[in-house]
Amino acid sequence: MRDFLPEDATRLRYIETTAREAAKLYGFQEIITPIVEHHELLAAKSGEEIKARIFAFDDLGGRKVALRPEFTASIARLMATTLRNEPKPIRLFSTGTLYRYDEPQFGRYREFWQSNYEIMGSSRLEADVEILVLTDHLLREVGLQKYWFKIGHVGILRGLLTEEGLEDEKQNSIMQLLDTKQWKKSLDLAKEFGLSRRGGEILKKIFETKGSDVSKTLKPLRKELKNYPKSVEALENLQQIIDLCLAAHIEFNTSIETGFARGLEYYTGIIFELLVPEMNVALGGGGRYDKLVELFGGEPTPAVGVAHGLDRIALAADMQNVQLESSPKTVAIIPIGDEAIPKAISLASKLREKGVNTEMEIMGRKVSTSLQSSSRRKVTHAIIIGPKEIEEEKVMLRDMIKRVQNLVNIEEVLELLSQRRIPVK
Ligand code: HAM
Repeated sequence: MRDFLPEDATRLRYIETTAREAAKLYGFQEIITPIVEHHELLAAKSGEEIKARIFAFDDLGGRKVALRPEFTASIARLMATTLRNEPKPIRLFSTGTLYRYDEPQFGRYREFWQSNYEIMGSSRLEADVEILVLTDHLLREVGLQKYWFKIGHVGILRGLLTEEGLEDEKQNSIMQLLDTKQWKKSLDLAKEFGLSRRGGEILKKIFETKGSDVSKTLKPLRKELKNYPKSVEALENLQQIIDLCLAAHIEFNTSIETGFARGLEYYTGIIFELLVPEMNVALGGGGRYDKLVELFGGEPTPAVGVAHGLDRIALAADMQNVQLESSPKTVAIIPIGDEAIPKAISLASKLREKGVNTEMEIMGRKVSTSLQSSSRRKVTHAIIIGPKEIEEEKVMLRDMIKRVQNLVNIEEVLELLSQRRIPVK
């Protein structure tokens, strides 16, 4: 588990705020779900890989509980119970920490943050597109320059494997291997499970199908799959989603990869991950999952969603030299002598009322020491109030970056500091 010191905490919160603003802009309402849930709920469809990494324990009441490894299961639980009768669609946003016993390494933590968005109750293409567009919007807002979507559809593979008589459990084992890019092993396993020779050939074609132009990429595969109607249906669905983005002039870089799978087992439709050239782990991932709410005892509820890894977005921003925050203005107020203290406190209150971040000198330090400490903490302006200043009804305003100062009256200081840019003569 990690500590976030002020600089890192500021960056993480900046991304979180951007994610929350995106949620509002796209009509999502925030909900807060518990960090501890029943283990059974979290493990149900999380897939072998994540299931093996859940922090699970018995609580004092003897129940097997766990720290959430993702938000989607909790939200599906709510849809199956409390939110069951709410009018659809429902758009829900969550953010917070998640826990997976991953091997700590670059971009992989045991405690990490996500912004998570789910659209419940729509099976239409527009819902899939909204999730993709929102993700693109978030990354642009954060300021990332280079990223792309890897997009696939679980129905293509599952359609083939179902038609070939492989049950869900067997399909899941094959998909798990694909999630970690073990193509050969997954092909061998499929054959072991009874995949026909022709099925094996097509599976290989599915693995090899990759490209940025959706029509060109999918055309040859469509021919191969003509005897597998479920796979063709999935292929059409994938094509329609991308075509709708194109028709709406929404452009983001995509790589269509039909052999791509995700570790989570609840997906039924489009799946995608968000990648940057500098990192070999994804910044986000999501897809359509139309059966999960029902599995938890709810009404049939088509759903599509995405989660973004906030820690990884911060890392990518670093690597792409993105300034994550326009450094906010912070003012230090330094009184000289006891007489100036009430004036200083009163001025600090007035500044805060105007929304200016203001730090009061509370150690009784000399001006020079206080200024040194302010500059170490990246304070942008200092206001010095001494007997002379009080007499003249003025204060000394110092620009800590340009290292210039001049005497200004109090009204003027309030006016200046509440402006976005502060001209210091
Ligand atoms: P996920 O792909 O397991 O999907 O996680 C989404 C994102 O969380 C990843 O792309 C990554 O950025 C971040 N993440 C995952 N594990 C770690 C880790 N150990 N350290 C740092 N970051 C990590 C889900 O969680 C699904 N619930 C997404 C979804 C929502 N699908 C439908 N709705």
